[in-house]
Amino acid sequence: MAHLQGAAVKQITEIVNRYKGEGTPLMMILSDIQKEYGYIPLEVQELVSLLTGIPVSEIYGVVTFYSFFSLTPKGKYVVGVCLGTACYVKGSQLVLDKFEELLGIKPGETTPDGLFTLDALRCVGACAIAPAVSINGKVHPMVQVSHVEKIISDIRRKEEEVSGYGQN
Ligand code: FES
Repeated sequence: MAHLQGAAVKQITEIVNRYKGEGTPLMMILSDIQKEYGYIPLEVQELVSLLTGIPVSEIYGVVTFYSFFSLTPKGKYVVGVCLGTACYVKGSQLVLDKFEELLGIKPGETTPDGLFTLDALRCVGACAIAPAVSINGKVHPMVQVSHVEKIISDIRRKEEEVSGYGQN
């Protein structure tokens, strides 16, 4: 979507038109675009501004305020480590540190191969099974530092199998 090709312009226009007559609910429009494309770069914000009359500054403010929205493409696997109180007291910061170390990225960043995005989350509503780690929205319970390497290698292995990587 980097150059906003005609198809993207058409689709975003359609999304905006879905909400015509509903007072152009910005959150709904941006949410649909995020779901469709996985991120909302500046040129898309400018197009939404043009179509809705909402200032770009306001749209940018919403996109950057809510962690659900992203300015850049996210990885195929979005790993969110909960740093809410219940998870934190059970060691989730150490779990996050381990993901950072093994993936070589900080929260908010994506690995160069586009496979992983790492996020630090607030409470994901799974305090009873803290520390919780969400992977593409699926919550994994009681994740310990010692589990992190296997979580990553399982995903990498799965991806290699899908791509046929490593086969003769
Ligand atoms: S604090 Fe982590 S799930 Fe509630």
